[in-house]
Amino acid sequence: MYSSLLKSLPFPPRVPLMSGPTPLQKSRLSWGEDALYWKRDDLTLYGLGGNKLRKLEFLMAEALNQKADLIITSGAPQSNHARLTAVVSAMLKLPSVLVIPGTLPTEWGGNLILDRLAGAEIIACGEEPLEQAVKRISSEKRSKGYYPYTIPLGGSNTLGSLGYFLAFFELLTQAEEQGWTPNLLVCSVGSAGTLAGLVAANALLPQPLRLLGVNVVQSSDQLHRQVEQLATEVLELLHIPRSLPPFEITTDFIGSGYGSATPESSKVIIECFRTDGILFDPVYTSKGVAAVKHLMQHKNREFPESIVFWHTGGGPAIFDQHYYTELLGHA
Ligand SMILES: Cc1ncc(COP(=O)(O)O)c(C=O)c1O
Repeated sequence: MYSSLLKSLPFPPRVPLMSGPTPLQKSRLSWGEDALYWKRDDLTLYGLGGNKLRKLEFLMAEALNQKADLIITSGAPQSNHARLTAVVSAMLKLPSVLVIPGTLPTEWGGNLILDRLAGAEIIACGEEPLEQAVKRISSEKRSKGYYPYTIPLGGSNTLGSLGYFLAFFELLTQAEEQGWTPNLLVCSVGSAGTLAGLVAANALLPQPLRLLGVNVVQSSDQLHRQVEQLATEVLELLHIPRSLPPFEITTDFIGSGYGSATPESSKVIIECFRTDGILFDPVYTSKGVAAVKHLMQHKNREFPESIVFWHTGGGPAIFDQHYYTELLGHA
């Protein structure tokens, strides 16, 4: 249904990293009258999956196009983006450097193990601000003769966000094939590119869907502006003269901040694993699902709705000692 629209838009090149649509699955949970669906981007094809592969399709194509011979990115030690960048770089026979804050861990766990298995060079930058460290390391690598391509935090620039512009239409097509229409789309928000792509795509619908981002990182105002900025740039890049539809961001489920689980997020990990056999992560998606649960249990609506939670991956972080110790306390 949307294929001719998408064919008419001037997308930049992509390295194919997706194996077709990810599953769209109805949940067996009963948190109220609404129907709840999971969009399973945790099941993307490579490196244990996650949302970053959709962004990396565009980013890596640009890196190859620029003839880069080294990929540099950054993130928290348990960054899923860093893990998938390391894996995809290795698959494309490019060395990668991951810059993390603080010091190298004494105990290796979760994503960091996978980063090493993928062959990434992991550089801890101590107290130096991450962005500054990335610039410094990039110029050091240049002086050694490399031609590096730097991917921003979370792969969230205009190019990366295009991945979720496309994904939005994948979801609508699947829902239509299954014979239902989504009313509300929810995803967790970190570096903003995922939600920005969805917001930009939503601008093309005659009746836009309700979009809710669940903030897991920072102040909501700043994040709202970041999503608006990126979504506007996506529409400009694709020459689509539309204004952005409204979207919401909640910060109510962030707990004490980025990377720290909440009792609700730990409980939904266990509940969803036991009911649907689906694994959410402690940093991003479990806070998003906690928001969905709250919404389904507390909102008064006149009629049941169809809610989609976009599962953006992140499962490997559970195998970091800090997170599994916390989770086992709730099991
Ligand atoms: C598992 C997971 N979910 C959600 C997000 C948030 O996506 P974005 O950074 O595009 O906002 C990330 C990355 O930051 C992630 O790793």
